[in-house]
Amino acid sequence: MNIPFLDLKAQYQSIQEEINQKILEVASSQKFILGSEVENLEKEIAAYCETRFATGVSSGSDALIVSLMALDAGEGDAVITTPFTFFATAGAIARLKARPVFCDIDKTSCNISPEKLEELLENQLKEHRSLKIKAIIPVHLYGQCADMTPIMNLASKYDLSVIEDAAQAIGAEYPSPSGIKKACAMGDFGALSFFPSKNLGAFGDGGMVLTNDESLARKLKMLRVHGSRDKYFYEILGGNFRLDALQAAILSVKLKYLETWQHKRIEKASYYDGIFKESGLGQEGLIQIPESLYKDKGVKNYHVYHQYVIRAEKRDRLKEFLQEKNVPTAIYYPLPLHLQKCFSYLGYKEGDFPVAEEAAREVLALPIYPELTSDQQDFIVSSIQSFYKG
Ligand SMILES: Cc1ncc(COP(=O)(O)O)c(C=O)c1O
Repeated sequence: MNIPFLDLKAQYQSIQEEINQKILEVASSQKFILGSEVENLEKEIAAYCETRFATGVSSGSDALIVSLMALDAGEGDAVITTPFTFFATAGAIARLKARPVFCDIDKTSCNISPEKLEELLENQLKEHRSLKIKAIIPVHLYGQCADMTPIMNLASKYDLSVIEDAAQAIGAEYPSPSGIKKACAMGDFGALSFFPSKNLGAFGDGGMVLTNDESLARKLKMLRVHGSRDKYFYEILGGNFRLDALQAAILSVKLKYLETWQHKRIEKASYYDGIFKESGLGQEGLIQIPESLYKDKGVKNYHVYHQYVIRAEKRDRLKEFLQEKNVPTAIYYPLPLHLQKCFSYLGYKEGDFPVAEEAAREVLALPIYPELTSDQQDFIVSSIQSFYKG
């Protein structure tokens, strides 16, 4: 059976005519930089994420960088984040010469742990008086929101800004005490990535920053064009962080289908949950299926399953076995960020974040996308069963 890890060709085929038409329109206009395509997409995504403002940028990594730049984060500042995320989250902090300070994760969700964050804030304030903690970057890993209520409470107690890294979680929802909130609508900024494999993916790189704050939105728009409000007059130091019109036009077509795709992902995840439960592998402690923390809390998109990630005994051997059966899998992420060579200057060592380190040894992402069939899912789960039970 042929099972791609992600089937972008199938997605393209289903909307090919519309997309091609849009590409031709942009080609005929010969308007490639910002302009009406980008402005339209910004309005549509702001509406979808329920925020007031949106700024299209060149990638998810740049969405994080411009958010930090808008806060003037730099030397002498610390920014707290999780060690169990894609590199760009902490890379953005370090590139601006601020110090990434890591905080361990919650075992169930693999998102930053609010309890550990509280401990860290208390200790950090005592230990590093010379560093100003500027912000927290919670990551909504795999498509499920971090536990934002306690995080926002801590941010307000310690007067910190919050940048939601929602690169993997566009459209995910969170049950807050004041109602259901969308990813990107809770912090001061929300950063999105349109990397092709994301739930909403471009035909190349792209990203967006969302905010409800008008003055921050104005600053973001300046930062993405070298810091200028009026062409050739530079008020602040920015860069070239622009989103292409072509990407915006393609994304705008895809956005119309996003909710349908999200629901299909949720359906596929429930199907996996069901067949894994029937398999008995969970009861025997051989694998754990992902838990959706907000499922029974009246939240529609309680998880948008950018990834469906199990925890597995003998993970690496299972991965090899599945590869032999042509079942592709992936490990997000094999080495937590505090142990990456480029961050050795931060002085962290093995054992500092045991929950993240354990996750790095156990997580295994299985194929999940709207076009995945139940036959393919049955084959994947029965292959996993045959690894453990022969
Ligand atoms: C959690 C997280 N943050 C940031 C990024 C960076 O996004 P991009 O690849 O668009 O720069 C990604 C994308 O891979 C991501 O998964």
